[in-house]
Amino acid sequence: MAPLPLLPSPAWALLAALLLASAAADAPSVADQAKSQQPPPPPCHLAGMWVNELGSRMVLSAANEAGVFSGSYLTAVSDANGAITESPLQGAQHHPARAAQPTFAFTVHWRFSDSTTAFVGQCFVDEQGEETLETLWLLRKKVASRAEDWKATLVGKNVFMRVK
Ligand code: BTN
Repeated sequence: MAPLPLLPSPAWALLAALLLASAAADAPSVADQAKSQQPPPPPCHLAGMWVNELGSRMVLSAANEAGVFSGSYLTAVSDANGAITESPLQGAQHHPARAAQPTFAFTVHWRFSDSTTAFVGQCFVDEQGEETLETLWLLRKKVASRAEDWKATLVGKNVFMRVK
């Protein structure tokens, strides 16, 4: 073994303190350890009936193996002239078997207007098993010409709760 260099004792103390500090920095924190010991959240399923804060309702089918699903949407509000009717939707999600709180996207082709809305979001489950869909949407309105393109898109947020 190579002989240890002769260092004055304050230098040894400093070296020991630095080694201890670097070991402490690498060690997981108490909060990290507690988090890793918690059971994973139960899977969040998109299938079923949902209502958002506007009172709009939608029904989603179970996703297939590829994560593709469909459904129908009954909006509580509209910017269009026609009477509101139920409209079809198509979407895709990361499958819950591979992602417990999956992200997803779906589009709604409104039956009573020329608009289309695209939603993106994530399905969350809290400690009580309560499921919530946090979404953002883009609503594309049909305009008469490219010159009006600047006013054709609305953006917003909707939060959906499961209807039990
Ligand atoms: C239209 O007005 O042309 C069609 C209806 C759009 C309804 C929008 S989609 C985003 C927002 N969330 C809802 O539940 N309804 C509105």
